[in-house]
Amino acid sequence: MTRNPQLGPDGELRHLLSIEGLPRSMIERILDTATSFIGVGDREVKKVPLLRGRSVFNLFFESSTRTRTTFDIAAQRLSADVFNLDIGVSSTSKGESLLDTIDNLAAMQADMFVVRHAQSGAPYLIAEHLDRTHAARASVINAGDGRHAHPTQGLLDMYTIRHFKGDFTQLRVAIVGDIRHSRVARSDIHALTTLGVPEVRAIAPMTLLPPGIEQLGVRVFYDMREGLRDVDVIIMLRLQSERMRGALLPSAQEYFKHYGLTADKLALARPDAIVMHPGPMNRGVEIDSSVADGSQAVILSQVTFGIAVRMAVMSLLAQG
Ligand code: CP
Repeated sequence: MTRNPQLGPDGELRHLLSIEGLPRSMIERILDTATSFIGVGDREVKKVPLLRGRSVFNLFFESSTRTRTTFDIAAQRLSADVFNLDIGVSSTSKGESLLDTIDNLAAMQADMFVVRHAQSGAPYLIAEHLDRTHAARASVINAGDGRHAHPTQGLLDMYTIRHFKGDFTQLRVAIVGDIRHSRVARSDIHALTTLGVPEVRAIAPMTLLPPGIEQLGVRVFYDMREGLRDVDVIIMLRLQSERMRGALLPSAQEYFKHYGLTADKLALARPDAIVMHPGPMNRGVEIDSSVADGSQAVILSQVTFGIAVRMAVMSLLAQG
């Protein structure tokens, strides 16, 4: 692809495939649009008719709780017709290719595909195929592809940080754990650096860092206590054992000792630091329950804000 496939010729959002390549103005527009969907209090999300008559297909080729459900809720709050394809009994389980499945759903007048896939690049492949072959111009939203990108998680993380901390340009943010296999880490790093966060720290053992991570604009720390000192935001990551090849860690207990977030390690951050986690969370492996359920954790707020952020993405795609 020669141009950024996410943006139309007019600069409007055409697909959402990755935060990499999204201009800062577009990220801010998505966050501002999400704010407009949050009603009184932080938890109430309005119902609006913006997607009435449009069809949203959720295609989850990998398991999900939060992303799939909040996309479903978001599409319903926008008054769309929502179809959750059961991949286990769909024709892909009979050998139909991914693009043949897409062609058939496009022929059913799909307006948006929300795609999660274990293969990095699968949503790009679908977007490119739709742009090349279909006049209907359905949009694709990447709901997580392999270890590559999880853009709506990155956006809801930015929404959460902006909600609790305000200005991005004064923050120190630490991302801790299995950065090597994490699509959330990549999306968060691109979003944080694009939004002007001056210091993004990556804290992990060497085996869980991707080669060349510094080129993304982060400072690497192997010692968690050193890396957490004076940070404003801590983003904990799950050990992605489903994407690990070979033994990268001695044991879960040893990992927790060095890289698990406990109350004493949290005390090294700023007193008003917030603790985030994209989920699913493994208590006692990457985070202690006292922290996960503590007053600094904003983990469930992330989930709630995810509805408004996904509404924002879908409404901007519908306009584009
Ligand atoms: N954060 C996230 O992607 O969670 P799910 O796998 O439950 O969707």
